[in-house]
Amino acid sequence: MAEPVLETERLLLSRPTASDATLQHRVLNSPALMEYLGGTKALHEIEAKHARTQTSFERDGFGFMMMTEKASGELVGHCGLKRVDNAHAPNGGDHEIGWLVREDRWRRGYAYEAMRAVIDWAFDTIRAPFVVALTSEANIGSWKLMEKLGMERRRDLDFVDPDCRDADNPLIQYSLTREQMGR
Ligand SMILES: CC(C)(COP(=O)(O)OP(=O)(O)OC[C@H]1O[C@@H](n2cnc3c(N)ncnc32)[C@H](O)[C@@H]1OP(=O)(O)O)[C@@H](O)C(=O)NCCC(=O)NCCS
Repeated sequence: MAEPVLETERLLLSRPTASDATLQHRVLNSPALMEYLGGTKALHEIEAKHARTQTSFERDGFGFMMMTEKASGELVGHCGLKRVDNAHAPNGGDHEIGWLVREDRWRRGYAYEAMRAVIDWAFDTIRAPFVVALTSEANIGSWKLMEKLGMERRRDLDFVDPDCRDADNPLIQYSLTREQMGR
């Protein structure tokens, strides 16, 4: 594991290393976990995503990270901050937060704990003016998490992604500004 970028009470968030794509493919790729993320991924797709993450860290100083559970040392999620890179989104380049947590660790507060730290990092260190998050109406757990994080529904940013299945369109967005966080 690389030196952690962020640490919370129960979690370490670190930049992906060369072996992490294989690990993510094995433990963060179940059908239930990937249901709203276009289905399970082939190893080469995760490797390509990690390559984009390395570019993001080198270019912008931020990216998605591996979420390690301190108590076990195991990989339990993947989350972080990147630029909106969906070609169909009306707000390409905005700061986007995102997450996934291993199925056997759901509802323990891990996503919330990790994302509170990522949001503080986005505003205090990266100096993002605001962050957005993308999901679908069907992904109830995800948009409820956005609401718990204090994010605001942004109907003006909804868009159709022709690469997504009908059940996931339109993609919906939430945002959170520095001011809304009291910064
Ligand atoms: C969405 C996801 C990351 C939540 O992770 P988690 O660690 O279980 O979430 P937390 O325990 O931190 O929950 C925080 C809040 O999110 C909401 N939430 C999370 N899962 C939920 C669910 N299944 N149903 C309803 N609300 C849910 C709740 O508001 C919860 O707060 P509460 O426990 O006080 O009610 C997880 O279910 C996941 O990885 N899903 C698959 C991947 C995915 O869809 N990622 C998002 C792509 S946009």
